[in-house]
Amino acid sequence: MPLSKKRTLTQYLIEQRRRFPQASGELNALVLDVSIACKAIARQVALGSLAEVPESWAAGEVNVQGEVAKPLDIISNLMLIKQSEWSGHLAGMASEEMAAPYQIPAEHQRGKYLLVFDPLDGSSNLDVNVSVGSIFSILRAPQDVIDSGRDVTEADFLQPGAAQVAAGYALYGPTTMLVLTVGNGVVGFTLDQSLGEFKLTHPDIRVPEDTQEFAINTSNSRFWEPPVKRYVDECLAGRSGPRGKDFNMRWIASMVAEAHRILMRGGVFLYPRDTKDPAKPGRLRLLYEANPIGYVIEQAGGRCSTGRQPMLGVKPSALHQRIGVVFGSKNEVERIERYHHDPVTREAPAPLFAERSLFRD
Ligand code: AHG
Ligand code: MN
Ligand code: MN
Repeated sequence: MPLSKKRTLTQYLIEQRRRFPQASGELNALVLDVSIACKAIARQVALGSLAEVPESWAAGEVNVQGEVAKPLDIISNLMLIKQSEWSGHLAGMASEEMAAPYQIPAEHQRGKYLLVFDPLDGSSNLDVNVSVGSIFSILRAPQDVIDSGRDVTEADFLQPGAAQVAAGYALYGPTTMLVLTVGNGVVGFTLDQSLGEFKLTHPDIRVPEDTQEFAINTSNSRFWEPPVKRYVDECLAGRSGPRGKDFNMRWIASMVAEAHRILMRGGVFLYPRDTKDPAKPGRLRLLYEANPIGYVIEQAGGRCSTGRQPMLGVKPSALHQRIGVVFGSKNEVERIERYHHDPVTREAPAPLFAERSLFRD
């Protein structure tokens, strides 16, 4: 069989680096390390119930989020750490599965980047053989960290999403894919199992600006804020409602898989701020879920928002901060933002609602 002409991840990264003649190649090396960890995680995920898990791990442990981390959450976390810590390109790491930042051990050199990740997103789907993925974000470490080589602190990671140098995810589905942005559009690679290589199969991913498909966990509807209720009601009203068209709905409960669907064919995803638990303003985490997916979506021409402001402009206040998330097709996300900013504007003017502030939040 002739060798495929599709470029490998390494070739793509070399091409991107040529745009910056002064670049050292460290970012490329780091992304390649992450991709190797993802290949190892893909293999582990694919074993399913065949995996030999130490007895003591089987029950899982409660992580900093107060959620039970499954053995594969912990294994994936370790794989990302072990594959990335030795290279000399990292100043530190942070992850959903670790309460505090991870310090690069003394036997390794320290570098200029911070790696932040959700080692396994959608892990409630593991038992039912539905797609899960790993999400990662690469930030530059603050200059004094680079200069001094000191230990990293939580504050070093509290950078807005707009500061990300690269971000992406690996999706462990029927095929394993790696979707990546280094700030120059979004590309997708498919793992060629026979070569063990990621091949560039999606050279220019773009999110369509309009959509008729939305994703939200409707079991939370009684906790939604009025702008979200209104948006979903209007979608459900379909052709005879104010939107004048029918909508389709999807919910995988694996945000990374929903993001991938939206990158492939458009759509809008909402996990909005709600009133379910006053201690949790939203379900998803800013630094390793919302920001990296937001960066990818925006680089593909979509939009990512809290509902009230652009996600990538939010100044984080804590490593494990939760936040309301709305992303996907640009015109749809902008509409949802409008509903938040101006809750009384209606598609077909209804004087009663326009005058009174029934929809104000
Ligand atoms: P994680 O598995 O990393 O904890 O994240 C799961 C997240 C996200 O992937 C998904 O969209 C959401 O939780 C599912 O929430 P519901 O259980 O409310 O459907
Ligand atoms: Mn997650
Ligand atoms: Mn996770």
